[in-house]
Amino acid sequence: MEIDIGEWGLSRRDQRLWLDGHDLTGLAERFGTPVHVVSASRLRARADEVLDAFGHYPGNAQIHFSYKTNSVAGVLRVLHDAGFGAEVVNGYELHLARRLGVPGDRIVFNGPNKTDVELRAAIDAGVGLLVVDHLEELTRVQSLARRSEQRVRIGLRVCPDISPRHMNASSLTGSRRNQFGLDLPGDEYSTALGRVASSDELELRGVMAHIGSGIHDLKSFERTVETLLDLHVAAFDAGCSPDLIDIGGGLGTRLSRELTTFELLAYLGVARLPRLGRPGPMDLWARYAEAVCCAMVDGCERRGIALPDLVLEPGRAIVSDAQVLLLSVGAVRERPGAGHFALTDGGAMTVSMMFLSEVHAVLLANRIGSGSQRVDVFGALPSPMDVVYRNLDLPPLRVGDVLAVMDAGAYFTATSTNFGGPRPGVLLIDGDEVRWTRRPESYDDLLALELDA
Ligand SMILES: Cc1ncc(COP(=O)(O)O)c(C=O)c1O
Repeated sequence: MEIDIGEWGLSRRDQRLWLDGHDLTGLAERFGTPVHVVSASRLRARADEVLDAFGHYPGNAQIHFSYKTNSVAGVLRVLHDAGFGAEVVNGYELHLARRLGVPGDRIVFNGPNKTDVELRAAIDAGVGLLVVDHLEELTRVQSLARRSEQRVRIGLRVCPDISPRHMNASSLTGSRRNQFGLDLPGDEYSTALGRVASSDELELRGVMAHIGSGIHDLKSFERTVETLLDLHVAAFDAGCSPDLIDIGGGLGTRLSRELTTFELLAYLGVARLPRLGRPGPMDLWARYAEAVCCAMVDGCERRGIALPDLVLEPGRAIVSDAQVLLLSVGAVRERPGAGHFALTDGGAMTVSMMFLSEVHAVLLANRIGSGSQRVDVFGALPSPMDVVYRNLDLPPLRVGDVLAVMDAGAYFTATSTNFGGPRPGVLLIDGDEVRWTRRPESYDDLLALELDA
């Protein structure tokens, strides 16, 4: 079943795909390809939807956008203006958040192996929540806090050992096979609580977990809340006074999806690309918010405790479908008995590293083709790994066609590499205006780093 292009805010005029009143093929011709195009109005609409959905939480709910999902400054500005804080995972992202004017107490700092330099920067910035991932890090944070003579507000990340359904292992982060968070069957969490409770320099704000990315199994978020509430109570028992619970990010998107383990094996092994299937429910965010908020409220009532603040760190489900990647077809080839190939100017360096384990729609942007053909779409590098998709169903392609890779907002710009040369720029559509929000990299940008060139 094909997804209606209106779901991405697209329309067809003169056979071409238009986004927010702009002809995508015209943008490709004017600005060149590969190029990302992001819609400010779709970002704002999604931000409003999310804030509205969590506006029903009877306590205080704070949304911190996950910078690592998409750290294009123009995208972040739109989201901060709409009311989101920042969730950062390294020193650069912290620096960027400060540069964009995000106050320290609206920043959550995560990461499984932060350096002392990063931890010091987080302490100096007065981040609202410095999430400690393991006991070794707790020791370092404590000694840095002592030296800085500041009381540092920390969270404790735990491993809840929860694996949502219909996912492949590359998208899971909350299982005991993953490297993140304090282990619960051992005594790591209680040890950490004891240390924080007896420390003058650390203040425990709350417990945190992040169980994966691209999740549609809402029950797994409810189970996470239950686990975190038990640990919240344990923190009080240990003499701490936490005031929040942080459930990370992880919600899936409506118009793209993760492959299951079986689908991933079939795709990597024999290039069997699964179908995208029907879109997720229109009210996905409302359902997610209801599941999480009810789990929080019911869980607190059952335990007879006050409702903590709720912290969320969404990424993918905020930005994914607000951005499109445009590629041009430079050559088409047919190898009788082996298949049809299309060579484009994008490939492994422009599509997301995570793309390998996700199904996205790819649309013909410049015309309505007739018929359907299975085609392997590649980039321009002499590498068998430079694949956009194998076995895509598209009308027979021609040289000069423009392809729109949909749902390019999450982990595309963030994970693109210089494997194929300079990285593409990002165009921002905001009403009538279209402009570069991140210009394409130039040869000189790359050469500037080469001290022997
Ligand atoms: C700690 C943490 N928070 C939030 C996110 C954002 O996740 P997503 O983009 O799936 O919402 C991630 C991404 O993996 C993460 O590691």
